[in-house]
Amino acid sequence: MNPPPPRALVFGASGQIGRRVLARLQARGWHVVALCRGEPPAAASGVEWRRGALPDAAGAGDGFDAIFSCGPLDLFSLWDERHATGAARAGAFGSTSGHVKHASSEPAERELAGRLRAAEARLAAAAAARGATVTLLRPTLVYGAGSDRNLSRIAALARRHGFFLLPHDACGLRQPVHVDDLGDAALAALQRAGTDFAAYDLPGGETLPYREMVARLLQSLRPPARLLLLPGPLFGFAAVLARWLRVHDAGAAVLARMRQDLVFDASAAARDLGYAPRRFMPEAGMSGSDQYLHPSLR
Ligand SMILES: NC(=O)c1ccc[n+]([C@@H]2O[C@H](COP(=O)([O-])OP(=O)(O)OC[C@H]3O[C@@H](n4cnc5c(N)ncnc54)[C@H](OP(=O)(O)O)[C@@H]3O)[C@@H](O)[C@H]2O)c1
Repeated sequence: MNPPPPRALVFGASGQIGRRVLARLQARGWHVVALCRGEPPAAASGVEWRRGALPDAAGAGDGFDAIFSCGPLDLFSLWDERHATGAARAGAFGSTSGHVKHASSEPAERELAGRLRAAEARLAAAAAARGATVTLLRPTLVYGAGSDRNLSRIAALARRHGFFLLPHDACGLRQPVHVDDLGDAALAALQRAGTDFAAYDLPGGETLPYREMVARLLQSLRPPARLLLLPGPLFGFAAVLARWLRVHDAGAAVLARMRQDLVFDASAAARDLGYAPRRFMPEAGMSGSDQYLHPSLR
């Protein structure tokens, strides 16, 4: 008789990263209990949907071999702190925003960074108290599913207008990471050697200037859109006007960051997880729909 399949509990399985994690677990024969807040998706082989919400209505965590969070890290850390999870190995996606935004000029961004850091500390403390293996994964700028709020939103605006504006000095370095590479990293995290808490930054496989990243994205659209580079003051005026017209909602800190390098080291993830992310190669079909445009522009 075959042994029963290993069991995983997955939070955020309907999200862009969560769908990749779910598919990989299914493909490897896991039985997955996946939490959803709304109407459960159609039944699929090896997946059992559990209705609920983090942190207080997500159900029990015992009886699983693995637990993975692809939803809000702060809510997962609160759930994790309060629930017995037995011998399950755990993994969770956080964000490099915790490194980047703690000194932001915008209070909401500083608050987000604070929440991420507090959540990481909570997870690490709970892991130490249990002697559990917990792996935290911090992606950079995610793309590839067409539902991210960064590159897909730029693509949607460019598709609508046929062009996209940037300041000529938008040269801060970026490392966009493909959702499929994150799905692979999540599965590798569940097999990581060691019985401790470990955190890994997960940048993409190429480091390129912001304006080169956007230029490549616009070239991938069908038809391609044009990138127009403006002098700084003129771009500043255009950005204020566009915000007033609700063409975008990017704040001053977001615009200023286009000139800042946001570069992270993948060597620890490469060593411990075999992480080998692809170069940035956007394709026409993965840049999303208009769902992230302001409703008046759809
Ligand atoms: N997108 C990026 O560029 C990026 C970059 C770095 C890090 N990350 C991090 O990676 C993780 C996943 O990101 P993503 O872009 O894949 O997210 P996403 O597509 O927005 O999906 C979020 C998921 O979390 C679930 N969720 C939200 N609130 C919940 C709650 N209270 N209880 C239970 N589930 C809840 C959602 O379920 P419903 O279907 O019920 O809404 C959905 O499945 C997050 O921790 C995010 O901060 C994302």
